[in-house]
Amino acid sequence: MRFLLPLLFAGALFAQHGYTPSDVENGGRLYRANCASCHGPNGDSQPGVDLGHGKFKRANSDEEIASIVTKGIPGTAMPPGAFSESAALTIVAYLRSLASATNVATVAGGDPARGRALFEGKGQCQNCHRVRASGSRVGPDLTDIGMLRRTADLQRSLLEPDAEVLGQNRYYRVVTKAGATVTGRLLNEDTFSVQMLDSKENLASFKLADLKEHNFLPKSPMPSYKDTLTAQELADVIGYLTSLKGL
Ligand code: HEC
Ligand code: HEC
Repeated sequence: MRFLLPLLFAGALFAQHGYTPSDVENGGRLYRANCASCHGPNGDSQPGVDLGHGKFKRANSDEEIASIVTKGIPGTAMPPGAFSESAALTIVAYLRSLASATNVATVAGGDPARGRALFEGKGQCQNCHRVRASGSRVGPDLTDIGMLRRTADLQRSLLEPDAEVLGQNRYYRVVTKAGATVTGRLLNEDTFSVQMLDSKENLASFKLADLKEHNFLPKSPMPSYKDTLTAQELADVIGYLTSLKGL
């Protein structure tokens, strides 16, 4: 009985399909780790299967989709997954969010080679990002970003970097009692200290006792490219990012 109550409660919440943004974010993380290798970032990499547009051949309700996710489809390459029902439903929440996301504009016709030149040149993306062995570690490594993100996500990252910053990418800031401000990536935090990779890629360690403030920044340090790249250049950069699929 002790376990039944929270389970029923979670079930009731999900049954109303009142998914929260954090359900969608958690589901997205599970999707990228467990499903994207077969289904691709847009959900359309398996012939005849399209997970990203809310139309499923073998399921209608969210519960039916969740059941496919946990049980797999016997006799096909679709494997069962060891997810709790509520975890499976967060994946469904993510798939539903894909279907409702509006594609802000079409970015067809991007040229990956020109995009790479922009990435390494005018866009100065390497000041913060790394692709394979070159670039900086200040921002997320983009070596396999083409496997992880949909075109619409990439476009949004470039135009509205603040719109959605994934948990693991949030920027951290400390202000010391001596008055210095350091921003960067949080590597570790314990009861007495924080360790960060600062914006020059140096490892910085602080005792909490020496700090006046320490918290995540609500905004992305990444600039918007809305006004600095033309529509064609944007399409080219996205074409390049889409082509990055690991080593
Ligand atoms: C090893 C590759 C592989 C992995 C990993 C995989 N799938 Fe699948 N999935 C398939 C294949 C292949 C099919 C098509 C099966 C068929 O209908 O013949 C499929 C079908 C499906 C369907 C049914 C689609 C429909 O139209 O009814 C859903 C839903 C689905 N997968 C979701 C997922 C989710 C969510 C994950 C991650 C938790 C996942 N899959 C992981 C290969 C995979
Ligand atoms: C001043 C540093 C900086 C510059 C310059 C910069 N970025 Fe970023 N970028 C970041 C940081 C930090 C994040 C993670 C926080 C966020 O999501 O906004 C990020 C996030 C991203 C993401 C999302 C990553 C993910 O995992 O979803 C993409 C894609 C991206 N940047 C591409 C680019 C491209 C392409 C350029 C050049 C046109 C560029 N960035 C320039 C710092 C930068």
